[in-house]
Amino acid sequence: EQFVAVEQRILQEQHCLPSLLLTQKFEPIAKSQLKKVTKLWKDDQKKQVARRKKEDEDAAKRAAALEEAAKVSITEDPSLPAASLMKILEGVQHRDKRIKVNGWVHRLRRQGKNMMFVVLRDGTGFLQCVLTDLLCQTVDALTLSTEATVCLYGTLMQVPEGKQAPGGHELQVDYWQVVGSSPAGGADAQINKDAHPDVQLDKRHLLIRGENSSKVLKLRSLLMKAFTDHYFSRGYQWMSPPALVQTQCEGGSTLFDLNFFGEKAYLTQSSQLYLETCLPSFGDVFCIEQSYRAEQSRTRRHVACYTHIEAECAFIDFSQLLDKIEDLVCDVVERVLANPEGAQMVKDLNPEFVTPTRPFKRMKYSEAIQYLEDNDIRKDDGSLYTFGEDIPEMPERKMTDAIGCPILLHSFPASIKAFYMQKLPGDSRLTESVDLLMPSVGEIVGGSMRMDNYEELMEAYKREGLDPKPYYWYTDQRVYGSAPHGGYGLGLERFLCWLSNTHHIRDACLYPRFVGRCTP
Ligand code: 4AD
Ligand code: MG
Repeated sequence: EQFVAVEQRILQEQHCLPSLLLTQKFEPIAKSQLKKVTKLWKDDQKKQVARRKKEDEDAAKRAAALEEAAKVSITEDPSLPAASLMKILEGVQHRDKRIKVNGWVHRLRRQGKNMMFVVLRDGTGFLQCVLTDLLCQTVDALTLSTEATVCLYGTLMQVPEGKQAPGGHELQVDYWQVVGSSPAGGADAQINKDAHPDVQLDKRHLLIRGENSSKVLKLRSLLMKAFTDHYFSRGYQWMSPPALVQTQCEGGSTLFDLNFFGEKAYLTQSSQLYLETCLPSFGDVFCIEQSYRAEQSRTRRHVACYTHIEAECAFIDFSQLLDKIEDLVCDVVERVLANPEGAQMVKDLNPEFVTPTRPFKRMKYSEAIQYLEDNDIRKDDGSLYTFGEDIPEMPERKMTDAIGCPILLHSFPASIKAFYMQKLPGDSRLTESVDLLMPSVGEIVGGSMRMDNYEELMEAYKREGLDPKPYYWYTDQRVYGSAPHGGYGLGLERFLCWLSNTHHIRDACLYPRFVGRCTP
């Protein structure tokens, strides 16, 4: 009790709160228990002393080694042929020649005092490099860590049969320099594949140096080329609509608004309305722009900012629109796979991938409602989905995964779709609208025919409670030479998830943006 009183006084003087333990009563410890605990404590003390001793010894050894290393210096042998600069990708044409190559230390292995293996990465590929003798005894060699940048000189030799190395060759280094060092442990000390997702996201600038993350993003690069090649081969013109707008396209609930020099403006949800205005001057058009959605939910297929591939065509009917979506998806996949690098990446990331066959299954919204009923796919409260309701992500995915092939789901009720959609001839409850659903991902494309009648469009603004004023330029398309037309938008990240079997959309973005995540 005396002890507790003293402790409490000290705590008060130091403005600390008394711990719960100090205010409680204690039983005296049993003798055997005391003996056991004391022994444990003593053992631990001994271990700590031994550990500290070992650390001190290691530090001393290291200091001695560095002191020794400081005496070693290397120079480039002037009698060797001049080295020509190459990128790793160009290795084959440089075999048996003296080269110089810049890059990041991707992997590092020391074998004894006289041998060091470096796997170098320069963005175009990986190169195995061997450093021997004095080359691995300098201070730079002893302190080298992964992710440091180096310039290596040497001869590129084909590896003997049976030995594996990226590209089938190995650089026998004869001279090298550090360009920029990296802390001990390299990026591995900061991040690895088992780290918590939030840590991985904080360190995404380092994570994208990894083999898997970079492979997905490289496939993304090839994919974007395939999309543009597709459109140019089909006679489309590439447009660049603005990101800052004063109209909404896909409903007010996901608008990001901002102050534009004192006026209210938004980040665009879709470039569709602008693409429609391009038809009279350019014919078929497409764009690849960022679209912004203030999505509150964190799902594996929603981000707040995504790359939106959109196209618009005049003088087509609804069935031709569906054909165009099918053509886009199949042709882009074929283009990626026709590229050996693309084919290899798809094989590495998604070995089970099979190119979808044409024609795609076409299914009416009303048939999907029936499918959900027939297959007992219900809402959380146990009730069935009924005609006129939006089919949310979960039931949609259950259906798509069960059917197991791409589905062009079409003819949705007007009440659940955007204001601009053309009504189905003969049934004004429905629209000429379509979603392309893919197994394991769900919706990757949304499109429709557009209302081309002036009065109907004015009626649609009214129904949605939209002020037609800021849409004057869009309405004018129905005044100056209206035409039947339609188009669609494809989410690049979702397409990439499907092609590369990436589970979460954040891994298909360079720097994903979603609720709570705007860094780095
Ligand atoms: O279905 P959405 O909302 O359609 C439109 O924006 C139309 N104006 C496009 C058009 O007709 N030009 O979006 C189209 C596609 C979706 O199918 C989906 O792939 C993707 O954009 N998408 C998203 N991707 C990631 N995160 C989000 N929050 C997305 N919202 C839509
Ligand atoms: Mg949609």
